[in-house]
Amino acid sequence: MKLASIQAAESKLLLQTYERNPILFVSGHDVYLRDEQGHDYLDLLSGIGVSALGYSHPAIEEAILRQSTRLLHTSNLFYHEGTANLALRLTEISGLDRVFFCNSGTEAWEAALKLARSHARVLSAKGQQIGTKFLAMEHSFHGRTMGAVATTHKAKYREPFGPVMSGVEFVRFNDVDDLRAKFSKDVCGICIEPIQGEGGIHPVSQEFFAAARELCDSTGALLIADEIQSGLGRTGTWFAYQHYGILPDITAIAKPIAGGIPMGAMLCTDEAALGFTPGQHGTTFGGGPLACAVAIAVLDEMQREDMLAHIREVGDFFKSKLQELAKRHDCVVDVRGMGLMLGLELNSADLAKQVASQMMERRIIINRTSETVLRFLPPYILERKHVEDAVNALDEILKDLAAYAGTASVGEQAHG
Ligand SMILES: Cc1ncc(COP(=O)(O)O)c(C=O)c1O
Repeated sequence: MKLASIQAAESKLLLQTYERNPILFVSGHDVYLRDEQGHDYLDLLSGIGVSALGYSHPAIEEAILRQSTRLLHTSNLFYHEGTANLALRLTEISGLDRVFFCNSGTEAWEAALKLARSHARVLSAKGQQIGTKFLAMEHSFHGRTMGAVATTHKAKYREPFGPVMSGVEFVRFNDVDDLRAKFSKDVCGICIEPIQGEGGIHPVSQEFFAAARELCDSTGALLIADEIQSGLGRTGTWFAYQHYGILPDITAIAKPIAGGIPMGAMLCTDEAALGFTPGQHGTTFGGGPLACAVAIAVLDEMQREDMLAHIREVGDFFKSKLQELAKRHDCVVDVRGMGLMLGLELNSADLAKQVASQMMERRIIINRTSETVLRFLPPYILERKHVEDAVNALDEILKDLAAYAGTASVGEQAHG
């Protein structure tokens, strides 16, 4: 099927939840995606932070092939070889004790919320004073299921589905006074993205994260870190919370874990894990043999190639190039992020939209988040030469748009 007929069919057959770019990808290699006409696109988004090892990576292909000839699914009623292996690897790199496997970010987040509530019930049963309320952050994004939307700040993601789960109060991100004012013994969990992704690539401050940890410790509430976008190497450490030296009680991960095969996981301490007893939570597909085998292959490859060091090195280079760009263009408001999770904030939503679409015309994939922020979540295997190509393209586009805006305003004056 060609692009036009697929577009026509989708418009009749699919729920219209996405505004797709009019491009039909048929294959991918390294950091490039190829369309049906054979054009290669430099991918600086990696399927929104998923394709960490790029495309057609031999380690992933080999793991899929090997596992697909042995066993795809058993259900969680039986054992298979992958789950404990992968859980061991994840607990070693995270500093947490236990893992619940699922299939997506929002499902991992949902597990985290349920665990925090049931853990609070365990504490209450022991006579401790603790409630069921969550503190979540302004500009947060945690997913699309009901608990996730209730803890997501943006009204457009939450309000059409009301009444959403009650007992959530939003705190101004990085405002320690607001956090302290809203925290009480009614709170069972504080929800934090160590780097807000959809919110515009905003890292949490050391002071705020430390205050959240201290408040949770004072009552037995759980500190819940959403690392669905920032976790598993994206920022140059396995988890973004490791930049801060703060260990949450629960973290949720997903996107890059199995290199493009759907998988999510919730990791937690032994103490938090007391919240779930057999039968209280589950999922049919979670932690299946295929996803586990591929996730282990991804972790093996990342460790073999010392990919965290590579992410830090290329990420620092990328950030420095964006900072140079910021000096040359007045329209750049800020450069933020860590490792290969970077944002370039421009001074207008319209400009950011034009830049993202002109990058696409030049076959470089980025996206725009929070209206004015160009977001970069490239595959971890990105090299300096790709960064140079992308930043040169950005430089040219910003120059052209500035020249055009200058001409337009001169033209307007002439007419006036
Ligand atoms: C921080 C964060 N949390 C949760 C989610 C939801 O993940 P999923 O789309 O896999 O459900 C996302 C997805 O973009 C995310 O970035």
